[in-house]
Order: sequence, then structure tokens, then C-alpha cells
Amino acid sequence: MEQAVAVVTGANRGLGLATSRALGELGYHVVLCARDSDAGARAQESLQADRLSCELRRVDVTRSEEVSDLGRHLRDNLGRVDVLVNNAGVNLESYREDGSRSANPGVVSPLTVLESVNINALGALRMIQALADTFVHGARIVNVSSGMGQLTEMEGGWLGYRMSKTAMNSLTRVFAAALAERSISVNSVCPGWVRTDLGGPRATRSIAEGIDTIVWLATSEEARETGGFYRDRTRIAW
Ligand SMILES: NC(=O)c1ccc[n+]([C@@H]2O[C@H](COP(=O)([O-])OP(=O)(O)OC[C@H]3O[C@@H](n4cnc5c(N)ncnc54)[C@H](OP(=O)(O)O)[C@@H]3O)[C@@H](O)[C@H]2O)c1
Repeated sequence: MEQAVAVVTGANRGLGLATSRALGELGYHVVLCARDSDAGARAQESLQADRLSCELRRVDVTRSEEVSDLGRHLRDNLGRVDVLVNNAGVNLESYREDGSRSANPGVVSPLTVLESVNINALGALRMIQALADTFVHGARIVNVSSGMGQLTEMEGGWLGYRMSKTAMNSLTRVFAAALAERSISVNSVCPGWVRTDLGGPRATRSIAEGIDTIVWLATSEEARETGGFYRDRTRIAW
């Protein structure tokens, strides 16, 4: 395929859907990955209605066989991946003012922590491993992380979410080094607190603001560094 290919996980809503649309508008063929086929189909229809080049693949990032199937499909049918946005993510810990719910590290179930890491960090690992053969020289991997994973800013609460994003940041550093000889960049991004289902209605940023640095890292000639953690197009501390 001559057209550049971008792969986005969790593409059916929120930041993933908006990132997919933006990449489509920039001329990429976008592979929308969604674990819910109906929601994915709605996302695909909304991009196709604007004549954007895209296709839908059913991918739950915790299911190794689905991620492997995606990898085979990309290699055999498209032959290239220029951009991977590891966006799929969850915050499984709820919060109550009295601190009695799972956002309290004193009561959170270790299984909740495990599942958070499984989706938010190991999902990205499965994707990178499955697409490794198909990345073009100079491809870009953007890991949608969070300031809640910053060790330098770490505070109480949301242990599983924080650990999962810190783990994702480790993945960024390790693969930035491992893929450097192929000039593949790997960076983490914090989108800020964004009004999505995950961020909630009180969040301070619009979705357009939230995807700005994601799309910049994925496509801009200005963003050629690797192994960094970014917010607002600027490096931030780990
Ligand atoms: N919003 C914020 O303030 C904020 C701040 C910092 C970081 N982030 C990060 O930004 C990313 C996107 O979040 P968002 O705010 O756009 O949230 P969102 O609207 O809740 O979207 C999350 C997306 O991830 C998908 N997903 C969850 N588990 C999955 C799995 N196992 N396999 C495949 N897809 C899965 C969801 O699919 P379903 O529809 O099937 O559930 C959905 O498409 C996340 O990684 C999040 O941690 C968000």
C-alpha cells in the first residue's frame, strides 16, 4: 500500500476516535481498532461519511489472539504501519468522598490493579510486539499515558491507574531504545484532563485540546525525538 497507515486502539470514542479522525484528515489510512464491533462500526461510518480512508478491526488489547490476528492482517494486506497510537485505556477505580471505594489504595483489590496494568500497559506491549515486523523505517509509536503515572508528581489514590501508566512509560523507554536502530520513535503523552467518558464532564480540556500533542507526536516533522514524555508539545518529567 502506498498510502501511509495509522493504527489506533480504543478508536470508537473519546480521544481515540478524535485522533483517528485527525489522522484520516491528514491523509493516513486509519485502522480503527475497537473491542466493541457495534461501537466500532459507528465510528467507522462517521469517518467514512467524511470520505476518510479507514477500516475497522475488532481488537480487545487484552486478547493476544485478536492482537496477533491484527498483526497478520496488517502485514499481509497493508504491508506497512507508519503510526501506532496505543490509546485504549481504563480507570477501573471509583472514588467516593469518604475514600471508601477502590480509588483508596488501602482497599483497592490487587486484581483491579492487575487488570489495570493488563489493559493499559500490557495492551500496548501486545500491540508493539504484534506490529513489530510491519513498522516502516521511521515509524512512530505514541503511548497515551497520563500525568498520574509521573513518579515525580505521584500522590495518593488510584494506585492501579497510576501503576499502569508508570508501567506504560517504562515500555516507552525500553522500546525507544530497542527500536532506535530502525529510527522508530516511541513517546508517551499526557493529554491533560479531558472531557471524555473517562475524564468526566468536569475535566478542564476539550477533546480537540487533548489530542493535539498525540497527533503532533504521530505526524509532525518538529517531533522527531524518541523516548520522551510530553504534554502540550513539551517534554515533562517522568
Ligand atoms: N480523559 C482524560 O482526562 C485522560 C487523561 C489522561 C490520560 N487519558 C488516557 O487517554 C486514553 C483514552 O481515554 P479517553 O479519555 O478517550 O477515555 P474513553 O472515552 O473512556 O475511551 C477509552 C477507550 O478505550 C477502549 N478500551 C478500554 N479497554 C479496552 C480493551 N481492553 N481493548 C480495547 N479497547 C479498550 C474503550 O473501548 P470501549 O468503548 O469498548 O469501552 C474506549 O474506546 C486512555 O488511555 C486514558 O487513560 C485520558
